[in-house]
Amino acid sequence: MSAVNNQANMQDADRVKIFDTTLRDGEQSPGCSMNLEEKLQVAAVLEEMGVDIIEAGFPIASNGDFEAVQGVARQVKDSIVAGLARAAIKDIDRAAEALKPAARPRIHTFIATSPLHMKYKLQMEPDAVLQAVADSVGHARDLCDDVEWSCEDGTRSDHDFLCRCVETAIKAGAGTINVPDTVGYTVPAEFHALIAMLFERVPNIDQATVSVHCHNDLGLAVANSLAAIGAGARQIECTINGIGERAGNAAMEEVVMALRTRRDIMPYDTGVKTELITRASRVISAITGFSVQPNKAIVGANAFAHEAGIHQDGMLKHSGTYEIMTPESIGLIRSTLVMGKHSGRHAFKAKLAELGYAHLSDNAIQDAFVRFKDLADHKKDIYDEDIMALVDDAVVRRNDRIRFVSLQVVCGSRGPQTAELELEVEGELMTAKASGNGPVDALFAAIREIYPHQTKLQLYQVHAVTEGTDAQAEVTVRLEENGRTVNGQGADHDTLVASARAYVNALNKLLVKREKSAPAAMTA
Ligand code: KIV
Ligand code: ZN
Repeated sequence: MSAVNNQANMQDADRVKIFDTTLRDGEQSPGCSMNLEEKLQVAAVLEEMGVDIIEAGFPIASNGDFEAVQGVARQVKDSIVAGLARAAIKDIDRAAEALKPAARPRIHTFIATSPLHMKYKLQMEPDAVLQAVADSVGHARDLCDDVEWSCEDGTRSDHDFLCRCVETAIKAGAGTINVPDTVGYTVPAEFHALIAMLFERVPNIDQATVSVHCHNDLGLAVANSLAAIGAGARQIECTINGIGERAGNAAMEEVVMALRTRRDIMPYDTGVKTELITRASRVISAITGFSVQPNKAIVGANAFAHEAGIHQDGMLKHSGTYEIMTPESIGLIRSTLVMGKHSGRHAFKAKLAELGYAHLSDNAIQDAFVRFKDLADHKKDIYDEDIMALVDDAVVRRNDRIRFVSLQVVCGSRGPQTAELELEVEGELMTAKASGNGPVDALFAAIREIYPHQTKLQLYQVHAVTEGTDAQAEVTVRLEENGRTVNGQGADHDTLVASARAYVNALNKLLVKREKSAPAAMTA
């Protein structure tokens, strides 16, 4: 490494880089797939937040992934854009190709280093793996100045071998060495010791930034990441809302707010504008259909709610009694009564900007405004949450090939329950009437009649956006087809219309997923 880079590393001793992998590892989790427009939307939010590195995808995995990395590379100007590649020439070439338009590209290449993975998954001897490290990183460096190397299953790797691999990767030109806890197996003290061991034993370690990438199988991903920072790591890989393979990845909002809140014992800065955390969390849950559990740290609906009388009393006297960070610091605006049926487009647009939707296109704002007017006709009090649910819903379905048009339902104790449905399929209006075991069953039967498909309904979930019997319903529908799962979301003041929108949204995502077939061994 050059003296200049080394100096930069020294100056940045207290800076922890945030590497967001929501679009790659996050998107790999079952049901989480996003289309190109959604990925670009997420990338815009991440860049605005000040994320250092955005991992946009795995270009060799599919054409969809390639186009997403290329699209994000074109759009993002400030953050580094990374593309993932296995230790294979064709993977690395494909990543380099997708990253061509990037202002600041990074190739992230990896190979497994644990005995278990080398023997059973790779079926390679350690010496061959070591050679692959040198060859892959060297090839990546020929194509890109910024190369990151990861030792997959690093936490279950033999220490001597890991040290040799890390040294080899740095020698071959890797500027970042990432140590993944791929299966979420390690614990904080052990992980701290592992990172400290690398700093002690790898002779050229000072020439690279050490990064960590923790999965949450034991619920320790954030704790392990912070422990690694204490040992000298200066990059954390994480995802918004902690989405990711199996139990997910370290949650970015938790990592960032832990560092900000406990600066007294962890004196490190990230470049993240924490006031955009709530916005980012909502965008991700709206797009993926993965709602955040109410008691989730930082972004859960209850994270700043005080129910117990003794807590409320303390809060009134001094907010510090029960609040270690302010809701404002994560961009959480207290729920306010906002607008009614007489509010105009101008006021609506201003409200959207205040809620963090300044980047929406005119078409998206128009779609949302129409929905807002409709809602205002049915609901007296409209809150910020109502507007956010409605906008997220309008934005999520803009590219849908199948669109909801209208629904008439007969329900109640006498039966039969029936649903009369109109959908627009690829621009053509289609209708169906079906009966079922309850109105939801009848509605879903009508959808299947219009658009025949064989899927398993894995989840049907309804939640009220605000309080009151006139609250909007937010519905999540999860469909499964041949091992592929997708989540759809819909919001409306009518629960059954919200259900129809959610199902249709899931179906649209399934169509995208059918086109995007990832080879089996592509997950990382
Ligand atoms: O979990 C993992 O090991 C990964 C690597 C590819 C970084 O996602
Ligand atoms: Zn991972």
